[in-house]
Amino acid sequence: MDVISVIRAKRDRTPLTDAQIDWTVDAYTRGAIADEQMSALAMAILLNGMDRREIARWTAAMIASGERLDFSSLARPTADKHSTGGVGDKITLPLAPLVAACGAAVPQLSGRGLGHTGGTLDKLESIPGWRASLSNAELLDVLGSTGAVICAAGDGLAPADKKLYALRDVTGTVEAIPLIASSIMSKKIAEGTGSLVLDVKCGTGAFMKTVEDARELAETMVSLGTDHGVRTVALLTGMSTPLGLTAGNALEVRESVEVLAGGGPADVVELTLALARDMLEAAGIHDADPAKKLADGSAMDVWRRMISAQGGDPDAPLPTARHTHTVTAPATGVLSRLDAYDVGVAAWRLGAGRARKEDPVQAAAGVELHAKPGDTVTEGSPLLTLHTDTEERFAGALDALGSAWDIAAPGTTVDT
Ligand code: URA
Repeated sequence: MDVISVIRAKRDRTPLTDAQIDWTVDAYTRGAIADEQMSALAMAILLNGMDRREIARWTAAMIASGERLDFSSLARPTADKHSTGGVGDKITLPLAPLVAACGAAVPQLSGRGLGHTGGTLDKLESIPGWRASLSNAELLDVLGSTGAVICAAGDGLAPADKKLYALRDVTGTVEAIPLIASSIMSKKIAEGTGSLVLDVKCGTGAFMKTVEDARELAETMVSLGTDHGVRTVALLTGMSTPLGLTAGNALEVRESVEVLAGGGPADVVELTLALARDMLEAAGIHDADPAKKLADGSAMDVWRRMISAQGGDPDAPLPTARHTHTVTAPATGVLSRLDAYDVGVAAWRLGAGRARKEDPVQAAAGVELHAKPGDTVTEGSPLLTLHTDTEERFAGALDALGSAWDIAAPGTTVDT
């Protein structure tokens, strides 16, 4: 087998054989295929696609490139959630302890933010002492003792995806449905969860900009999970407006704790409860009421134990930014649009995100929203507050927000 014939086949729209796929994924993981050759193949896949058989085989080969975790020793059924990423998407933080409080075990292997989208691990690392990297034994220990664990995926899990994802990130080949679906599902299947709920985001702040693309991605991932014996369901949710009222690491932890305390923005509470119900259903738990577990403090108890078990202090004050700048409404009326992508880029430029994988992030940086689409604003009232430790970053963030919102005439009805 040689890689050039594989690249030529995909370039000329000939479906890859099972043997070609197995060999390619294995050879790339071993370092026998060069990055420039894999980039050419990834671009050919992006342009010419893959059929369902090819995607299923590619996913299986990525799973086989590493280890698989086994949660069969746990007394509870396992349930996991994956979001395809967005702005202000802190849902994993309240969701994992909530679903654990309802009786499932939630192994939430999460990632870091890249570009304009935030990452769950970056958010949790703003809690003093909290540790993202756990050994497999520690992961099982925290999961067994608290019911939920949120941590980094170990190096042994789908190593082919780690290498390929880093390459796609720098070669303009992220936005290919076969590659996104196989990347996400290889990690989730190797992780060993029994059930999985996918939150497939759609809109300006998401990878998938149209409902059609989001639906195709969702259907592909559900069929991959189902074929591997994981009970998988998907929700399509909007990502044209940021979720909640914060985008940025410590700011989002603060908002998540508000949700766990029974408050928080309505859209965050609503999505947390919807995903919790689907996760419990998929895990076969039919008698729990997540709204009650949020209201009676049980979810908060699990959160505190989960954070402490990973070295964090749930009572420690969260970092606050050295500098803030408030942007005010230029006119009186109804906020009719607040663009998720622009707010995400602003948070990123303030220091909440990174441009390269190895960059540090600022725990306290980000954007706080004072109004959401549908709200009435008056000229001069606060619209957004920008937070950063580096004052010079305000200019770039304000630039990103240049056309981030529209204000319609007073009394206009806005579809939110
Ligand atoms: N998240 C992943 O894990 N992989 C992708 O390809 C895109 C988003």
